[in-house]
Amino acid sequence: MEPYNGDWMRKYRGHCKLVLKPASTEEVSKILKYCNDNLLAVVPQGGNTGLVGGSVPVFDEIVISTGRMNKIRSFDEVSGVLVVDSGVVLEVADQFLAEKGYLFPLDLGAKGSCQIGGNVSTNAGGLRLLRYGSLHGTVLGLQAVLPDGTIIDDLCTLRKNNTGYDLKQLFIGGEGTIGMITAVSIQCPQRPKAVNVAFLGADSFEKIQLAFREAKAQLSEILSAFELMDSYSQDMVHRVRQNKRPLDGEYPFYCLIETSGSNSEHDAEKLEKFLEDVMSKDIIADGVLAQDETQIKSLWSQREGITECVGHFGGTYKYDVSIPLKDLYRLVDETRERIEAAGLKGDTDEFPVVEVVGYGHMGDCNLHLNVAVRRYDKRVEEVLEPFVYEWIGKINGSISAEHGIGIAKKQYLGFSRNNTMIDLMKQIKKLYDPLPKRRLSSVPFYKTHPFKAEENPPLFAQKMDTNALDTAEVDKLNENDKAELRQFLQNENQKARVQNTVHSLTDMCFRKCITSTIKNGKLEKNEESCMANCTERFFDVGNLTVKQLQNMRQS
Ligand code: FAD
Ligand code: MLT
Ligand code: ZN
Repeated sequence: MEPYNGDWMRKYRGHCKLVLKPASTEEVSKILKYCNDNLLAVVPQGGNTGLVGGSVPVFDEIVISTGRMNKIRSFDEVSGVLVVDSGVVLEVADQFLAEKGYLFPLDLGAKGSCQIGGNVSTNAGGLRLLRYGSLHGTVLGLQAVLPDGTIIDDLCTLRKNNTGYDLKQLFIGGEGTIGMITAVSIQCPQRPKAVNVAFLGADSFEKIQLAFREAKAQLSEILSAFELMDSYSQDMVHRVRQNKRPLDGEYPFYCLIETSGSNSEHDAEKLEKFLEDVMSKDIIADGVLAQDETQIKSLWSQREGITECVGHFGGTYKYDVSIPLKDLYRLVDETRERIEAAGLKGDTDEFPVVEVVGYGHMGDCNLHLNVAVRRYDKRVEEVLEPFVYEWIGKINGSISAEHGIGIAKKQYLGFSRNNTMIDLMKQIKKLYDPLPKRRLSSVPFYKTHPFKAEENPPLFAQKMDTNALDTAEVDKLNENDKAELRQFLQNENQKARVQNTVHSLTDMCFRKCITSTIKNGKLEKNEESCMANCTERFFDVGNLTVKQLQNMRQS
């Protein structure tokens, strides 16, 4: 069970006791129908490499693992359309395509473990989105199963299909909240015959921006990746791997540039000319061109290895954000300042933070702000959140560029999406997954959601959002009404807080006490007394809370 209950970052814990491994869409359909009819919460899991906790059964959901759905269904060597089961590992699909002279239009560091269903469900971006575009464009069709077991068969292999709403788009990036993807058809490009890679060092982030501009202008159609790394991220790679650095000197910023084309000599010449040009203009301080396949791999591993090396010390607080380029690195600097000012970063074990690093897909304005820690620590979290999300909200950035919402960002969705959009998302979710919520009661159902545990679907913060009020409308009220409204909101927020406490305490009691399977609605004797004890404590806390509220009101 262990691998299904943990996550790649060792940050989230699951309590799943049952993993189901269907081998076909029909089996997925039967499982989901049964779970739906019996109000059992489930969580789809692919390679479990997601970085926002979405694949972890954080309550005790049943894990539906796609690992056995791993067949390559068909490949058309003329059109380049590949049809695969959702459990096919990304690297396996790409190796299959390589033999046919094609390429999977997505590549990322977790390719050896992540699965295509997981990639599509998270709308993963990866290292070459700049060149091959998003899965929203390359995925041509899907087969999926809805929470009630209905199979949606839309494995279209056509590029053009303007027949009504493009429903598959909701599953791409839907993170398993409205259904489970069982197969994917995808447009694959020809594998480039010539790949060249350069690794460059620069003295400032401004200069990296200039280099990006020049790369687009001079390398245009052959540019396939432009990746950013700061010195802190490269120091981490060096510290963990003890390897030789690509450049002799050390610089505050680095970028990796890849070109992919059809003529190796022509491309290499272009890249060399580009390098000469940016060095002569003092945009780039130093650079190196890979001479063969081994060097290409080694330069890429300086970039792809960051995720693992940053996590090496114990854990990582990860922020995957979209920011207009000119402001992209400012967030890293300001975060580092905050962490240092709070006295949380240092070289010895008493400090939770090892380093604050920045890297990412510069070509897509996608920054990965990572805080490498020796252990997860509330104090660090409080310095980081909601600061990072507020920062992003203020500049109209996105709090999730490519990793999704999961459970990590659920409560912060409002920083990137307005209430109208969130309401629409809720309606769509309800449409696909209409079962009414089951209220928490003495019945030991702390699951209220048939498809994922209620708390697990990523989209909706439950807290009442006082910022959501239309301030123009509030301004129209007289002072008395304003005061009354304020009081009302305050009361509602207090109620919500108390309800949350009740909710989590009941969850906790249930999880702590009920260890066996419940037969005929009856609990075991020891479970009953444990529940009674736990509930008494729960009422004690309830009384205390009421007293506290009364005191607050009096003061
Ligand atoms: P999982 O982690 O198993 O699941 C992810 C989410 O999708 C969960 O919410 C899960 O419930 C849901 N899900 C899984 N399968 C299905 C299905 N068949 N139907 C419906 N829902 C499903 N992401 C990027 O975007 N770009 C990167 O460059 C990148 N690099 C990474 C590098 C490393 C080293 C690691 C560890 C992760 C990286 N990721 C990256 C994050 C991650 O999103 C991807 O690894 C991948 O897309 C997740 O696929 P998976 O099969 O592991 O999905
Ligand atoms: C990457 O770009 O390396 C991935 O998105 C993983 C990460 O954010 O570390
Ligand atoms: Zn990334």
